[in-house]
Amino acid sequence: MLGGRIPWGVREEAVLIGVYDSGYGGLSVLRHLLAAFPDRDFLYLGDSGRAPYGGRDVHTLLDFGEQAVERLFEEGCRLVIVACNTMSCVALRHLQRHYCPPEGDRRVLGVTIPAAEAAVAHSAGHIGVLATRRTIASGTYPTEIRKLAPGHRVTSAAAPLLASIVEEGWEDTDVAREAVRRYLAPLAGIDTLVLGCTHYPFLEDAFRAALPTHVHVLDPAPHVALRLATWMERHPGFVEPGSGRLRVLCTGDPDAFVAHGTRFLGRPLPPVETIAEVGGRLAPREGHVEPRGQVVRPKRDRADGGTAG
Ligand code: DGL
Repeated sequence: MLGGRIPWGVREEAVLIGVYDSGYGGLSVLRHLLAAFPDRDFLYLGDSGRAPYGGRDVHTLLDFGEQAVERLFEEGCRLVIVACNTMSCVALRHLQRHYCPPEGDRRVLGVTIPAAEAAVAHSAGHIGVLATRRTIASGTYPTEIRKLAPGHRVTSAAAPLLASIVEEGWEDTDVAREAVRRYLAPLAGIDTLVLGCTHYPFLEDAFRAALPTHVHVLDPAPHVALRLATWMERHPGFVEPGSGRLRVLCTGDPDAFVAHGTRFLGRPLPPVETIAEVGGRLAPREGHVEPRGQVVRPKRDRADGGTAG
């Protein structure tokens, strides 16, 4: 059973909101959520030790998504926002079916539908989407856009280098401008560009410079916050405020997380706590001690003859 203990002083009655991303990028979404909901308590989980997600296979993403959402619910969240485009595009339905039965009191929401709605609202008929390889391969953005506007054209392209360029802090370089120019080439004729990856808003200047001035460059993050506000109006069971606390968990190196994260969040992070990975899964909340030195374990029984995994 998923727990619900809240150990860091948030009010028991408050609805703790989890925000989940592959790493630092989702902090650019959290930034808008914090501004829109200053009296809410947030718990951010960045899976930076296993990022990037954008080139991962679907089943690995489903596994990672399950582990992260389970952890956020165990930590006491009742609402989880999947801030990562890749995870939202591939696994949102799966996570909702698994963890949010209609009669239950937990919900998982994503970023794709708010982005699609905002794109349709801005577009005269031709929307471009740039995102990670997995997001583009999923086809989720065109599907959601066409549900809302069946006559709209959607042109999408993967831009796998862009997230790394932002993580390096190279937004204002010729490398960034040239990469943006090349990735935009197949999107000629669009009137709206969806920045379909948490990192791309940091390249907004490069996108604006490379696109005709009439093209609307759309950062989904503020629309995610706006849509959450209207969602809460329709879901009064999730509105109980907290006291504006923020706790941050990451996998991987917490120092690197703080160094990068501050830029993405736009303000200093609270002390970042680490979750270890054990055998491909997030370590349990309590009792995990990482072994030191050489580790020898019994040979695994490989019924498949050693070809799998
Ligand atoms: N958060 C991811 C996304 O929006 C960033 C890129 C990645 O992890 O590959 O798709």
